[in-house]
Amino acid sequence: MKILVVGGGGREHAIVWKLARSSRVSKLYCAPGNGGTVEIAENIPAKATDLEAIKDFALRENIDLVFVAPDDPLAMGMVDYLEAAGIRAFGPRASAARLEASKSFAKDLMKKYNIPTAAYETFTDMDAALAYINNCDLPVVIKADGLALGKGVIIAETREDAIKAVKDMMSDGVFGSAGRMIVVEEFLRGPELTVLAFADGKTVKSMVSSRDHKRALDGDKGLNTGGMGAIAPGADLTEEQQRLMHEQIFQPTIDAMRAEGAPFHGVIYFGLMLTEYGPKVIEYNARFGDPEAQVVLPLLETDLVDIIDSCIDGTLDQQDIVWSDRHACVVVMASGGYPGNYETSKIISGLENAVKPGEDAIIFHAGTIRNGKDVSTSGGRVLGITALADDREQAIDRAYEIIDRISFENCHYRRDIGRTC
Ligand code: AMP
Ligand code: GLY
Repeated sequence: MKILVVGGGGREHAIVWKLARSSRVSKLYCAPGNGGTVEIAENIPAKATDLEAIKDFALRENIDLVFVAPDDPLAMGMVDYLEAAGIRAFGPRASAARLEASKSFAKDLMKKYNIPTAAYETFTDMDAALAYINNCDLPVVIKADGLALGKGVIIAETREDAIKAVKDMMSDGVFGSAGRMIVVEEFLRGPELTVLAFADGKTVKSMVSSRDHKRALDGDKGLNTGGMGAIAPGADLTEEQQRLMHEQIFQPTIDAMRAEGAPFHGVIYFGLMLTEYGPKVIEYNARFGDPEAQVVLPLLETDLVDIIDSCIDGTLDQQDIVWSDRHACVVVMASGGYPGNYETSKIISGLENAVKPGEDAIIFHAGTIRNGKDVSTSGGRVLGITALADDREQAIDRAYEIIDRISFENCHYRRDIGRTC
């Protein structure tokens, strides 16, 4: 089979890495890919959001399957567009990707189908939002409705901060059209957990859980980022907890989407808060998380192509999915300044011999480009160093040992991945 993966970050490298281990795959392509994917796939110079270029390439090269990994092309309807051209594609159609692309759609769905989440109000009128903010409990959470690169969420501790956030989003357009509508919601307390799941429109099967670290600095300080590191499993869940999550959240979400005429086929991301009143949904994403994919996929023992087929064809109930019982940790090496301004084109040294023979670890590339033997930085999140071990502590220690062997100018990474909540 010839498979094209759309996207070019650490998540896409992890997907390409996993697909390369399938006996059913003869050739892999990645659009646009990065300095890591180019070693196992052919990078295609097409933007992940260029629907036409992706379609033309898939038709010209007789691609058997296109895996659409990032949120933007999913929200734009790349899967619908490819299917209309007769190309087999993996990922939710635009109507189902709204679960991520519109927070108000997701919140209204949860309310309608009694799926536990934070209490909320939606506003399109700034005066009404400000009046509400004047009386609500603090802290309060203010979210831009649309996609904002994971940065459209403000947790306001004071009324002044809350008012500023509403004004920034609704009148000053800090998040562009994503902030025309906002959701104001109750602040939830508890550890966070990510559960990714495969879905075929009717059946949903959860993956091993994971835990992301979204803040830029140690001790969960600094700005929100796409994710600075992750571990899997993310928590020691009892069977009872897993059953409750499935019955109260995972299956009802998939049933709700089907009932709404938008069956969800693909990977669904449940961002959960484990509150004292039980698990509640903080957010849905319509795709693999990044960096979560970099710890979850290395623990998947089943052939990913078989699972993808079953998700597209609606036969996931008959598909066995086997997980390793090991632990994984990924630490992201980022460009200094990320998620704000940062410099690129820094040469990365130490990559070639960073993983010693017998060390169970993988270096996933995110913002890198390869030029002959040289690899240099080209983005905010540069590398994801994933290590596997029989227990969590060993996996964390191993990831940091490998990091010590890699360097580039102004490199920044968190030193407490897996060690704080
Ligand atoms: P989101 O983009 O919705 O995942 O939000 C980003 C981060 O903000 C989450 O990972 C949480 O840490 C935090 N957050 C979002 N919503 C809430 C909430 N209702 N209560 C507490 N923290 C929240
Ligand atoms: N790591 C969070 C996300 O992918 O949305």
